[in-house]
Amino acid sequence: MSKQIKIQPATGKLGILTPGMGAVATTFIAGVVAARKEIALPIGSLTQMGTIRLGKRTEDRNPRIKDFAPLANLDQIVFGGWDVYEDNVYEAALEAKVLDRSLVELLKDDLQAIKPMKAVFDKNYVRNLDGTHVKTGATKMELAEQLMADIRRFKTDNGCDRLVIVWCASTEAYTEVSDVHQSLEAFEAGLRNNDNRIAPSMIYAYAALQCGVPFANGAPNLTCDIPAILELSHKTKTAICGKDFKTGQTLMKTIVAPGLHARALGVRGWFSTNILGNRDGAVLDAPENFKTKEVSKGNVLDGIFDANLQPELYGDIYHKIRINYYPPHGDNKESWDNIDIFGWLGYPMQIKINFLCRDSILAAPIVLDLALLLDLSQRAGLVGIQEWLSFYFKAPQTAPGLPPQHDIFKQLSKLENTLRYLMGEELITHLGLDYYEDLVKEYEGLLQAHS
Ligand SMILES: NC(=O)c1ccc[n+]([C@@H]2O[C@H](COP(=O)([O-])OP(=O)(O)OC[C@H]3O[C@@H](n4cnc5c(N)ncnc54)[C@H](O)[C@@H]3O)[C@@H](O)[C@H]2O)c1
Repeated sequence: MSKQIKIQPATGKLGILTPGMGAVATTFIAGVVAARKEIALPIGSLTQMGTIRLGKRTEDRNPRIKDFAPLANLDQIVFGGWDVYEDNVYEAALEAKVLDRSLVELLKDDLQAIKPMKAVFDKNYVRNLDGTHVKTGATKMELAEQLMADIRRFKTDNGCDRLVIVWCASTEAYTEVSDVHQSLEAFEAGLRNNDNRIAPSMIYAYAALQCGVPFANGAPNLTCDIPAILELSHKTKTAICGKDFKTGQTLMKTIVAPGLHARALGVRGWFSTNILGNRDGAVLDAPENFKTKEVSKGNVLDGIFDANLQPELYGDIYHKIRINYYPPHGDNKESWDNIDIFGWLGYPMQIKINFLCRDSILAAPIVLDLALLLDLSQRAGLVGIQEWLSFYFKAPQTAPGLPPQHDIFKQLSKLENTLRYLMGEELITHLGLDYYEDLVKEYEGLLQAHS
């Protein structure tokens, strides 16, 4: 058995703050409150519902992850956040229309008490929103300082021991890393000079890390995936991860694609189209915001089907993604995938997947797991990029120069082995030779006894 890493205990209250209190954030908060009241189960949350195998297959040790790793429990969580609209979480949950009104009414008192703080917002980054609940300040540095004051005030007012921030706000317009993002020094100068290449989400990430609060990015914006923020995370010894929650169609893709690859089947084309009608869909209707999403979704297959390693199978894949805003569907996104594959001797086949999913129902448990696991990272002294949380992201943030791992099964294995490592349990390779040898010896002994 390896040595257990020293982990600070999960005592006291954990504050989970979300910039953005729309469909995903309110579904997450309402779900945790409902689970706490034992009205519903936190289904889809690996930390709450998932189990982890420990030791040999023959040992039959499969605890729930929440009983194995020292995570904060649901009763210890306090919620807060920021939004460009003033609605409290009860009103925002009704507006989002993800959950049945009857369920939201049952939770009304708890949800009504959670009110967003004023947001740092820039319409240049999200032109399809018109919020008024926003901060003002002469410079972006001033706005960052206001966020830091919010974070500290929230912690004191709510008696929290620790905080975690998970970005659940709208997808921002596409931006590329440029010189202002290259170092902390350049970034801070940019904050003071109101550099327009610094997006609001970056200001939140900066404020969080300055306060030593770990930060996860649920949208495809760059946010914490820039050298300046990475540098700050190491300077303040804080954990970060991102980006873009892996839900819906991309979740399906990273489940199906590793299976095709595992059987060395070829892929000629993968056409993915979606219709969705929530506010997220409205924001993504702007081409500059869609571009951000397209890039994050687009790389998923490249990581699984490697054209360089297997050019005969994956050298010429046509991959196309479409997202269409269709209000009648609300949060109930519908996706279609047409996959043109080929098998033995090149014979073609087709797969059609029609996923009638509920976007925020898939995203909410990810917010919970990320918050709990990132808090664990922080207490275990893991700083900088938490690649072991790639499992939850469409475009996992990795150390510079390292290609991301998209295969969901490899991501799960990495997550589980990280938990085993932190807790001083043997890592599982699935080789199993040691106990096969024991079983074979036992079997041979039996044969001899009978002969
Ligand atoms: N639902 C999913 O399955 C899913 C999957 C992956 C990623 N995401 C991402 O998660 C994010 C949230 O999705 P959603 O469906 O809840 O969207 P939503 O539009 O319902 O909620 C986003 C909220 O963020 C607020 N907002 C925008 N800019 C802000 C700012 N600068 N500061 C504070 N608040 C701000 C908006 O007013 C809105 O209330 C989006 O970026 C989306 O792309 C969602």
